[in-house]
Amino acid sequence: MLTGLGNIISLAFSVVVFTTVMVSEALADNADYIQSGDEALQQGRGLWLENCEGCHGYGIADAPIPMQAGDWKHRVIKEREVLYRHAIEGFIGEDYSMMPARGGNEELNDDQVKAAVDYMLFLANFYIKQQDN
Ligand code: HEC
Repeated sequence: MLTGLGNIISLAFSVVVFTTVMVSEALADNADYIQSGDEALQQGRGLWLENCEGCHGYGIADAPIPMQAGDWKHRVIKEREVLYRHAIEGFIGEDYSMMPARGGNEELNDDQVKAAVDYMLFLANFYIKQQDN
């Protein structure tokens, strides 16, 4: 009986892990999320896809979308330290939309959150430049 339950639990666990891996592989290939030759930015990209894309990729909860210049023009000009702090501590904007601390993943350390911010700014600046032309 116990063994049977254990099997079911481990099967359920494998399904979850498997699904997660599939989703992140599809995301990792998404051409909208441009790659960088810079290793730190690439690491930030991985962290961003895992922890931030769920909201920022689609505007969920009014999260600003880096592929939309209008969402980020007024943010990329903020000091980098301010953006880091807002991502680490959380931030409520003028329209009361809320950025949760560390994107809701308290396992992320400061450097990981900063790397994800760096990647999102890299992405936003790329699209701002493109839409300016
Ligand atoms: C639950 C949805 C959600 C997740 C997940 C999320 N964000 Fe946000 N984020 C928001 C919203 C909403 C805002 C807009 C807040 C505002 O300005 O009104 C925002 C704004 C920001 C800003 C801009 C802050 C400013 O001062 O303009 C940064 C930087 C940011 N998020 C980084 C991140 C990073 C890095 C992650 C992943 C670790 C992440 N976010 C995950 C919802 C989310």
